[in-house]
Amino acid sequence: MCGICGVVGLRHATPIVLEGLRRLEYRGYDSAGIATLVDGRVERRRAAGKLDNLASLLEREPLAGKTGIGHTRWATHGAPTTCNAHPHGTQRVAIVHNGIIENFETLRQELEAAGQVFETETDSETIALLVDYYLQQGLSPRNSALKALKRLEGAYAIAMIFAGHEGLMIGACNNAPLAVGFGDDELFLGSDSLALAPLTRRITYMENGDCVVITPQGAEFMTFDGTPLVRPVQITALTAGSIGKDGYRHYMEKELHEHPLVIGQTLQRMIDPATRKVTLPDLPFDLATVPRAVITACGSAFYAGMVGRYWLEEIARLPVDIDVASEMRYRNPPLTPGSLGLLISQSGETADTLAALRSLRADAIHILSVLNVEHSTMARESDVILGTVAGPEISVASTKAFTAQLTILACLTIATARARGKLDPLGEEELVAALMDLPSRAAEVFNQGAAIRQMASIVAEARDVLYLGRGSMFPVAMEGALKLKEISYIHAEAYAAGEMKHGPISLIDRTVPIVASVPSTPLFDKTLSNLQEAKARGGRLLVFTDTEGAERVSAIAEQVVVLPRVHDFVAPILQTIPVQMLAYEVAVLKGTDVDQPRNLAKSVTVE
Ligand code: F6R
Repeated sequence: MCGICGVVGLRHATPIVLEGLRRLEYRGYDSAGIATLVDGRVERRRAAGKLDNLASLLEREPLAGKTGIGHTRWATHGAPTTCNAHPHGTQRVAIVHNGIIENFETLRQELEAAGQVFETETDSETIALLVDYYLQQGLSPRNSALKALKRLEGAYAIAMIFAGHEGLMIGACNNAPLAVGFGDDELFLGSDSLALAPLTRRITYMENGDCVVITPQGAEFMTFDGTPLVRPVQITALTAGSIGKDGYRHYMEKELHEHPLVIGQTLQRMIDPATRKVTLPDLPFDLATVPRAVITACGSAFYAGMVGRYWLEEIARLPVDIDVASEMRYRNPPLTPGSLGLLISQSGETADTLAALRSLRADAIHILSVLNVEHSTMARESDVILGTVAGPEISVASTKAFTAQLTILACLTIATARARGKLDPLGEEELVAALMDLPSRAAEVFNQGAAIRQMASIVAEARDVLYLGRGSMFPVAMEGALKLKEISYIHAEAYAAGEMKHGPISLIDRTVPIVASVPSTPLFDKTLSNLQEAKARGGRLLVFTDTEGAERVSAIAEQVVVLPRVHDFVAPILQTIPVQMLAYEVAVLKGTDVDQPRNLAKSVTVE
């Protein structure tokens, strides 16, 4: 969270940095700011709220200069005010920071005792005043930065510029992403390659503990001790055009419509078209003999993992433990060495998932990560990655990355089941056929737009909503409830339908709509009975089913959305699409900020 962008070169820095920040706004959007060097002096413009506020400020008070850094913030320490907005600094230095400086209180006391005066409540200002302190001691910018970096504890990506040093920028990172972009006579720093996509495709991803000194002529990488490092330049596949809204109202709407494409692209990578068999990259472990799997992730990615557990246990007969990463990392469970650690993350940067990865690795667990951003920190620290081919996901609420994760987990299940002798060639053929059928069935879901909008008009009036599902539809219900909460701000709770009678049934009345995902799988009858129990208590039933279940569901439900009948195996993937669409339509009706809901950020790189 928090986005960083910087440039040194021959052009006016502010528009370049502002455009970079627009592409990073998904990482945080509660305040923003830019600092440049104007005639050698550090000048800043900062504004609370969305980036547009900063853009308006810059129209009223333009900012010249060819060396500049910018920041879009997701507040951790200190309210999202203009004063707490980055860049922070003094007359001598300006810095932007993503992450948390854990020892900032100690450093702050020390600096205050030395006469430094703090203006903000942030941990980040400590970096600026520490560097400033060393500059005042007569150290060069490079030595001041290196000396300060050695004193910082925590996670950080930082960019700094220095008064009187036109064309100089210093960057550093530790457990937070930072990339250097190489242009012609200009260089850039950015939190990710997306920010840099319109500027250059030549990128170096920095590693933990790297510092970089940048000028328009080039980049010098080094450790915090100043020891030179060689870091490769990579060519990214991203292009500037790949993140437009393409005429949709919101990124979320566009990304919802990309479900069929993304599922198809992910399958193309996983299934050999000639043999129609799932093919995995070479694994440094044997799926036939791993004793257990441990799945961990956060938020939606965790729900994808829950579906994965149903599949791996039922089809591959592999025992699975699963926990959210923020719990897993501190739970210290007894793990069987040689187990398979399955980490799932769109960004590959989520702090809790990354910490869980490291703790699993310490327990001699093989790490297989399902990631969308293939240049991420988690990618570097995994034994093997399976990439979801979802493309950039800009909307803060995850949509297409989730179905791509499910697609990968489905393929992994098939490969694991085959390796363990639980799936014969005919069985594999059947499951692969079900997956290959999915992109066109997924496209048909969009024919139900009107019915989903009608359902949305009921949900939008509610204060609380109950989501129900059984078996692999339970995580789908959880995904639906999470999506509704985060973008429409309506309280929603998901329950395994059979568990409702043990408590939440007391909530049911006309004011609490029940959204249920009930395709005609073997749990259809059981789930329908649970819905009858709810209806008997006045519950309003809004149900997603399929063509085979439609008649029986229609007999009891107030509103039904009928989806194509697909193989039971892939039903959770298909059923996810309409629950996400429902949340989207409710948010549109409520007029919320769909792509950037309050208090959230896309990539949660703090604990
Ligand atoms: C929900 C959502 C979040 C993320 C979670 C994990 O719509 O987007 O719950 O799924 O923060 O993020 P990643 O997948 O990047 O690790």
